[in-house]
Amino acid sequence: MKSYIGVFDSGLGGLTCVRELIKQMPHENVVFLADNKNVPYGSKTREEIRVFTYNNTNFLNRFDLKALIVACNTSESNARDIIEENVNVPVYGVIRPAVKAALKASQNKKIGLFATSMTVRSGKYETTLKELDEKAQIFAIECPELVPMIENGRFGNDDQVMKETLKGYIEPLLEEGIDTLILGCTHYDVLMDILNDMYPQLKIVSSSRCVIDEVFNELNIKEDKEPERKYFTTDLDRRFDKVSKMIIKDIEYEKVDV
Ligand code: DGL
Repeated sequence: MKSYIGVFDSGLGGLTCVRELIKQMPHENVVFLADNKNVPYGSKTREEIRVFTYNNTNFLNRFDLKALIVACNTSESNARDIIEENVNVPVYGVIRPAVKAALKASQNKKIGLFATSMTVRSGKYETTLKELDEKAQIFAIECPELVPMIENGRFGNDDQVMKETLKGYIEPLLEEGIDTLILGCTHYDVLMDILNDMYPQLKIVSSSRCVIDEVFNELNIKEDKEPERKYFTTDLDRRFDKVSKMIIKDIEYEKVDV
């Protein structure tokens, strides 16, 4: 019987984790859920995020899971306790691996954070950073425009509107003297190339990639010759399908209620 690595997010962000997972662990079976009906989580209430998170873990529990990746900073920062209570397999969150990688990358320990409103307001990045290095500082900014823009496919390297939006978010952090920026929302991974082009001096850490590095290091890698990949979504339209294919070329979704 096949066992799967379960992954969930509100939408496309989770696909950036799955893309990295497939790259680093091509033989693993993967089951992914996008709760696209409820995106964006970042502007919902904490109670709503907790209900969505509970429903997502319940859905993934239908599969024989070997591990669960919380590919959503907003869910992790507002509902990690619910996830831990509701699943019986190791849970991998995005926040701690991203903070560790940022501390390793930063020289001056002034670290910027781009995240959704509800991730920033949870204070989880700050407490995790202080646990690992008391003297390090985090400069967080809520980026409510980014998820809707990314869901609309606006992440090409020549997208001027995206560039202007990013400038508006990053300038105050650069004024604080940050040398490292955490992309604390899995959706933002698709902005890596634009940001590297715009700010080559900045070290950019993607929460999507860091969690997969951790899973790769900790999990017993399986060699399944015909790995299965299942992709579910709670809402499916042509736009979501098209933008998903910009991240994972051959993706085919099944629509489900959770
Ligand atoms: N990709 C998610 C995160 O990492 C959620 C974004 C959203 O739905 O607002 O926070």
